[in-house]
Amino acid sequence: MRERLEEIFGKIDTKLTAQCGRVGEKIPYTTRDGFYQTDMRQENLSWWTNGFWAGMLWQMYHATGKELYRRTAEYSEEAFDKALDRFEGLHHDVGFQFLHTAVADYRLTGNEKSRVRGLHGASLLAGRFNGAGNYIRAWNKDMPGWMIVDCLMNIPLLYWAGEELKDPRFAWIADSHAHTALKVLAREDGSCNHIAIFDPATGELLDLPGGQGYGPGSSWSRGQAWALYGFALAYRHTGKKEYLDAAKRTAHYFIANAASTGFVTLCDFRAPKEPVYWDTTATACGACGLLEISEHVPELEKPLYHDGAVSMLMALEEKHCCWDPDRDSMVQNGTEAYKSPEGTHIPIIYGDYFFVEGILRLMGKGFMIW
Ligand code: GLY
Repeated sequence: MRERLEEIFGKIDTKLTAQCGRVGEKIPYTTRDGFYQTDMRQENLSWWTNGFWAGMLWQMYHATGKELYRRTAEYSEEAFDKALDRFEGLHHDVGFQFLHTAVADYRLTGNEKSRVRGLHGASLLAGRFNGAGNYIRAWNKDMPGWMIVDCLMNIPLLYWAGEELKDPRFAWIADSHAHTALKVLAREDGSCNHIAIFDPATGELLDLPGGQGYGPGSSWSRGQAWALYGFALAYRHTGKKEYLDAAKRTAHYFIANAASTGFVTLCDFRAPKEPVYWDTTATACGACGLLEISEHVPELEKPLYHDGAVSMLMALEEKHCCWDPDRDSMVQNGTEAYKSPEGTHIPIIYGDYFFVEGILRLMGKGFMIW
């Protein structure tokens, strides 16, 4: 296994070194004809995925010490200053944006300016808390009553800020949100809803609509991955057993579904058999969540989570990765949402991020970005 991981690590390093040369100061999202042609700084600077490229480079900087990774990661962080200035457009996903850029930089280099950027992002996230329904509101515009499972992955920014400022408000907000997610988004069988809608004035639960999955009551696989990893991280930061139990329930459900399709996940576990839509990003994120769980369970329980993650990451490597250094993106066949014809079976930057995090975790070279 060690040899195999070293070989994959070498391929990642070669590929990302070449990509840094091509990407330069740009922020990539997906490819067209094999290349990152769009610069998200121009297209949509506040887009929720804009931190993952830098996050992947900070992971590689931590693993290799190569200055190219550090410098290229800094470009995204510097670009985000304009998103902070504009304010509009930023939403609950500031966790993905600032943990992977400014906070990663601060943690690895001690850069004071990065710390301030991270605290700024955390304050925006805390300010989205709705005390009537005890949730952090999702997105912007006319959706003040919406919470989504994805946001569990953003609340580590609050735990970080709370520790940094020695201010328990941040963790209180994060916990309140995680507790509400446990109550209304997690289902008893280990699956979860994507979205809950509350009356934002009274906090009354109004609806559990289908989101990026097949429909209401279905099981969008990336949402399940956000839940399993998000609850595991809530456990890491709070030590509350209810979160670890929820993460484990979701993990068992996730592993069972992934195993039935060769350890690569379909976009929705409860969709009709045809057409077949894969979502490799869910596989990569879920694998990282499984590795997180394996760190918190007794020795005899570890293999289920660890080996499940290995099966998923190796299946991605064997069947869905492009290792040609002259083309951009590693993990292919990500899917933005079940009903997104143009966003089906495309490389997406967070698929690469989680794949790299997973491989580095397996090698003991991971950097705890969450
Ligand atoms: N957080 C949005 C998504 O997973 O597509």
